[in-house]
Amino acid sequence: MTLPVTGRRPSIPELAERSAELIASLQDAGGAYPASPTFSAYAGYSWFRDGAFIADAMSAAGRAESAERFFDWCAGVLEARADRIAEVVAAAEAGTPVPDAEMLATRFTFDGREGDDDWWDFQLDGYGTWLWALGEHVRRHGADASRWRHAIELSVDYLVASWDRPCFDWWEEHAQHVHVSTLGCIAAGLRESLALGVLDPARSAAAAAAERSALARLGAEGEGVVGGHLAKWLGSDAVDASLGAVVGLLDVVPAGSPLGAATIERLEQELTVGDGVHRYLDDTFYGGGQWPLLSCFLGIAHARAGDAGRARELLAWAASTADADGAMPEQVGQHLLAPERVDEWVERWGPVAQPLLWSHAMLLRLAVELGDDEGVRA
Ligand code: BGC
Repeated sequence: MTLPVTGRRPSIPELAERSAELIASLQDAGGAYPASPTFSAYAGYSWFRDGAFIADAMSAAGRAESAERFFDWCAGVLEARADRIAEVVAAAEAGTPVPDAEMLATRFTFDGREGDDDWWDFQLDGYGTWLWALGEHVRRHGADASRWRHAIELSVDYLVASWDRPCFDWWEEHAQHVHVSTLGCIAAGLRESLALGVLDPARSAAAAAAERSALARLGAEGEGVVGGHLAKWLGSDAVDASLGAVVGLLDVVPAGSPLGAATIERLEQELTVGDGVHRYLDDTFYGGGQWPLLSCFLGIAHARAGDAGRARELLAWAASTADADGAMPEQVGQHLLAPERVDEWVERWGPVAQPLLWSHAMLLRLAVELGDDEGVRA
């Protein structure tokens, strides 16, 4: 779908509508959402992380069928790996956890294979995030969760056995650490697995215990809180913009709580320049630019803390990153943390990913959050 040529920038509702249409038009027949249809390193793959947030945005925008097809795809990926998950669980219970290389992948081809390209597997967050998105969807639309029961059970078993393992973070980096936003995604997913009401009593008890433990590690005693705000990883005093999701959309730490407010404040002071949000201070990927999807996550946190005005400023900045065709990038280079590191990435992978479906999804999700999505709902 292309917008009518009007000679002006699209309004927020128009861009939100275009984003929903773009996502719908690019969703694979089997339900997978491509991360980016054209970017060399991402083409042909769907991530549980990106896809879960995309599904949540589509669900929130009234496109329940699209979200459900993505959940079906996730379920297919998980069910095809039921034996592997059983091995992971058995090894963890025996006190001899499997090596990282035998954990589940981070991204899959549209037909549910690992694919032939090396990637920074393993990452746990997506297996929590898809459960969270499913829980939100079922609550919102009253869908029958038993359709995904087996995949929910498999995800819970996998997370209960593995939640405290160090792994790559949202940015597929720093595998030696336990990342606070990864713990947040896992805690949100386990919380929603319980709310979905399809688990047997033993699994429910295990999910509840693992959720409590993940929340405890994410707190001050578990070194997830340093200097009064959430930390990038356990014991770090830095922040990472992915924490905006833990405080806002995932609602693991309430945005209006002292810890939520302190985290939002630190993200504003340290990572936000002119309404554009950096991932973290040491970022060098494509020079360490600003990510529209992160301005939207921070905007949702502000909206939930009661500051819709600040949320709208962040939304407007995210919208300003769209090109003349309305395509949103992964990041923009208006303010770079490491300008000398741009060329190496352009040589390696070509220009920055655009469109990135996750960017479109977060713009759509924040617009819905603020009620600025007039006309989007199908
Ligand atoms: C980001 C990931 C994302 C992937 C696909 C990577 O550059 O670090 O967070 O899942 O792109 O969009």
